[in-house]
Amino acid sequence: MNTLSELRDRFEKVLSELTPTPDPFVAMIKPTQDAAFGDFQANCAMPLAKQRGTNPRSLAAEIVGKLDVTDLCHPLEVAGPGFINIRLKDEWLIERINNIVSDARLGIELATKPKRVVIDYSAPNVAKPMHVGHLRSTVLGNALYRVFKFCDHQVVGDNHIGDWGTQFGMILFGYKNLLDVSAFESNAVGELARLYRLVSQLSTYHDAKAELPETIKQHEQYREQREGLEKESDQHQGDKDFAKDLKTTRANEAQWNQQIVALKRIIADIESSSLLKNLADTHPQIAELARLETAKLHAGDEENTRLWNQFVPQCLAAIQGIYDRLDIRFDTTHGESYYNPMLANVVEEMQTKGLAVESDKAICVFIPGNAAPFLIRKSDGAFTYATTDLATIRYRVKDLNADTMIYVVDTRQSEHFRLLFETARLWGYVDRQFVHVNFGTILGKDNKPYKTRSGDTVGLESLLDAAVAKARQIVNENDDRKKDDAGNPTPELDDVTRAAVAETVGIGAIKYADLRHNRESDYVYDEDKMLATTGDTATYMQYAYARVCGIFRRGAINRETLRNEAGHIRFTHPSERALSLQLLRFSEALDGVLSECRPNILTDYLFTTANSFSTFYQECKVLKEQDAAIRTSRLLLCDLTARVIATGLELLGIKTCEQM
Ligand code: ARG
Repeated sequence: MNTLSELRDRFEKVLSELTPTPDPFVAMIKPTQDAAFGDFQANCAMPLAKQRGTNPRSLAAEIVGKLDVTDLCHPLEVAGPGFINIRLKDEWLIERINNIVSDARLGIELATKPKRVVIDYSAPNVAKPMHVGHLRSTVLGNALYRVFKFCDHQVVGDNHIGDWGTQFGMILFGYKNLLDVSAFESNAVGELARLYRLVSQLSTYHDAKAELPETIKQHEQYREQREGLEKESDQHQGDKDFAKDLKTTRANEAQWNQQIVALKRIIADIESSSLLKNLADTHPQIAELARLETAKLHAGDEENTRLWNQFVPQCLAAIQGIYDRLDIRFDTTHGESYYNPMLANVVEEMQTKGLAVESDKAICVFIPGNAAPFLIRKSDGAFTYATTDLATIRYRVKDLNADTMIYVVDTRQSEHFRLLFETARLWGYVDRQFVHVNFGTILGKDNKPYKTRSGDTVGLESLLDAAVAKARQIVNENDDRKKDDAGNPTPELDDVTRAAVAETVGIGAIKYADLRHNRESDYVYDEDKMLATTGDTATYMQYAYARVCGIFRRGAINRETLRNEAGHIRFTHPSERALSLQLLRFSEALDGVLSECRPNILTDYLFTTANSFSTFYQECKVLKEQDAAIRTSRLLLCDLTARVIATGLELLGIKTCEQM
């Protein structure tokens, strides 16, 4: 058990005598921000005193009096209005830290009650190339997967790819009508992606053409209304309602105007090219025809099924290249198509149970307290994204026996998941845990969703290449700067090693930058920042790791042997104690990641650890220390730090290099 849990356990015994609901108060025992107040602090006396109508300081004293913590803490102090300051005894820390010196798991215990977890992550819609939008689900989901697995939960990583949606209709239509045969022969996936973009661009064009007149009319109406109001405005000086009216009208006018601009841009994009304009004119019904192709595929049409069976593996092979580079493997890749045979039965079951009813020829689940119904069959008979997700839940519960289902999906799908989880509970899955691990958008430096200069989404492959290229410069510069004591250059890495290190640094930087943010927040994709060698980056952490490895290399010390020798960690300087305490908090960090599905708790922890090490290394001699016992103790701390950093990074899916 980690120190925090140990303390909370002891407090709980006392607090449960004072309140029937001790949990929120127990949760108020936290590590201190400032070491001057001790190692941990309990702020529970103030709110609890308020609840009981007593004096907080005397309540704090009462709690302290009842607590049995003499084995691990110095006598507790009550400070200020009733804070309880907790300072661990050095003996306690020394015993704990020495216990993990030769523990391969660094003190992280296996889960006492392993969960059966399915993590649904990455899930791109195939037949479109992977772009920057797929990064977050892939990276966050994989980090969670690794932490659950490390803590011995039974976890299935499932890539719920979109392989059955309307995009296939577009590709099928494109393949049959717009194919560039030689392009397809040389790069099938590239050509399919082009067809997808082309068909979707042509359909959007026709939609825009159809929408434009009505949009102009709406805009006109607001313009006239605004002009009318402006004429009257002299008579309405100081009239708040009038002013508000005018403001709303202006806003509406501006909004419709924006819409006109957007539609005109879509139209101009096609009409400025005679080639595209010709194609658009030749295929005025393209959207409808593409929809029909999807419908035919879903109905089992022979030709479309054959083509689909040909396309999907090709597309999957293409995205596999990216997963390999990102070092991501799934246990299963059950795409949407996998559930197709189950959909009719799901709808039937929901109807028989009286959960779903027909409404305007469609079948819907009406959830008490929700205005919007959950649509599970459209009026034309087509099943929906929702139907597939319901079938997926039933499969995961029945066949995989999952008790926890985690979906790592963009915040924009929050409403879908809220309704899905509500429906699942109505369906009877009340004893299962459903979690939507939502996340924000990756922005460009203009603070808008990250796009290329021409306005396209940024391909993931090119993003990885760019980061690795930049990492290569950093690796080169760093290695070229190395010098011996006499000032002669001593680069250590050959070309092949430099390339491998650059790949590790570049990919690590992208992943870490994504993981270190609070997942709900949007963040700006900034290659310079994410590859900085100081600050909260993977690069900083990777160099910190390599620096520690360098100590052992320079001292020609075998780390295994060191661990197995008789020496042990002792405290002779405050920074040794501070570093030990920090290393012992690894399991608190992992607990946090698991309970909140937030990998940034781990990045925060690793950053603090690297900083704590850096202070220690500045203040304490290691290789040059004369006292053999102290030297061994410090080397053991170096070794532990390196292992904690490498393990922590690995749990985030980030690799390290012994030498950089
Ligand atoms: N393919 C979907 C998309 O790109 C994400 C799927 C997420 N998982 C799920 N079970 N709905 O939006």
